[in-house]
Amino acid sequence: MEDGAMAIINSNDIMPTNADGSMPFRQNSDLLYLCGVDQEESILVIFPSAHDKSHREILFLKETSPEIAIWEGEKLSIKDARKLTGIESVRWVDSFDTVMKTLMSEAEIVLLPSNEHTRRSIPTETREERFSRWIRKEYPLHRYDRLAPQMHRLRSIKSLEEIEQMQRACKITEDGFRRILKFVKPGVMEYEIQAEYMHEFLRNRSRGFAYEPIIASGFNACVLHYISNNQECKDGDILLMDVGCEYGNYASDMTRAIPVNGKFTTRQKEVYNAVLHVMKEAIKLLRPGVFLADYHKKVGLLMEEQLIGLGLISAKDVENQNPAMPAYKKYFMHGTSHFIGLDVHDVGLWNQPVEAGMAFTVEPGIYIREENLGIRLENDIIVTEEGYIDLMKDIPLDVEEIESLMQE
Ligand code: GLY
Ligand code: MN
Ligand code: MN
Repeated sequence: MEDGAMAIINSNDIMPTNADGSMPFRQNSDLLYLCGVDQEESILVIFPSAHDKSHREILFLKETSPEIAIWEGEKLSIKDARKLTGIESVRWVDSFDTVMKTLMSEAEIVLLPSNEHTRRSIPTETREERFSRWIRKEYPLHRYDRLAPQMHRLRSIKSLEEIEQMQRACKITEDGFRRILKFVKPGVMEYEIQAEYMHEFLRNRSRGFAYEPIIASGFNACVLHYISNNQECKDGDILLMDVGCEYGNYASDMTRAIPVNGKFTTRQKEVYNAVLHVMKEAIKLLRPGVFLADYHKKVGLLMEEQLIGLGLISAKDVENQNPAMPAYKKYFMHGTSHFIGLDVHDVGLWNQPVEAGMAFTVEPGIYIREENLGIRLENDIIVTEEGYIDLMKDIPLDVEEIESLMQE
């Protein structure tokens, strides 16, 4: 941050539902990343060049009270917040406007977070945007700039502590998968499988799913964002499950495809192994220095080869293809990898070379609507200088292992 620059980061709102109901609270990932406070109505101010030392980092919190303690439980006290965050200047949020008058008389540039995710969709006004509107009206002659570039850089390289949280999330997801391998059989409902995962997640101190789970049997697996999860799993079908728990707000994101009756048919195995081959090769391609756009093109070629082998597309289709819409996209419509971390589709540096410490999913898939068959396989990995750490390396993946665990 340059001299005179001050960053201000707000927590998220508790989002309302109906009547006096509300959604479970989900902290703003930038705020959580920077100070670890998982509480609503919190504001973090970072002003490294402030003259007064006590103004260089300030945390504002909702004032707790005996009334709040009775109804909601204890919120952070000033003392607890200092201990949790290491920030000395902790104040009640009621004093924010007053303190701002002093800070803004010294600051020249105000850095504000903004949701710059390439696929964001935000029909409501977030607390962050409300704040941004307020401060720019209150102090119109200051310079305002984006905090997002710094946050994306920081958050895309995972620290050891973050990797540990993510590994824990993957381990709990593994426990969920092992549980359902014993549970799935013809006649079981997709939502019953979802419940088994949830049971395993909660008992391991995860707060639950990191995203809406996809439990899709038969043709449903070809609906890429199928989340109804309300159909019966039928004998002979493949069941695709895209599920992951979160732990300490860090996401895991796994996909597995298993035969409902415990045994793959020859064709199912063929398609499964094609996807598995692409996944294994793709993981090896994610190296420091690689550009994600080039990586995605290479994975497209790997997939093309497999689809030709499966008889789904021909060499002629490839020869005649529109380069903007390659032939393989008929059966593999989505990207192979995304950043993962505090958010399942985490922020990251999409247009710069991959670096050690970045965390990605690798998730190729083949969806054959005419065969009621959809297979996607997805692991989460950390890129290292020499190779990678597969956070899901212990989660059963090979056909033989899945069949034998299902038949136990
Ligand atoms: N589960 C979301 C994804 O795989 O990207
Ligand atoms: Mn997924
Ligand atoms: Mn994913």
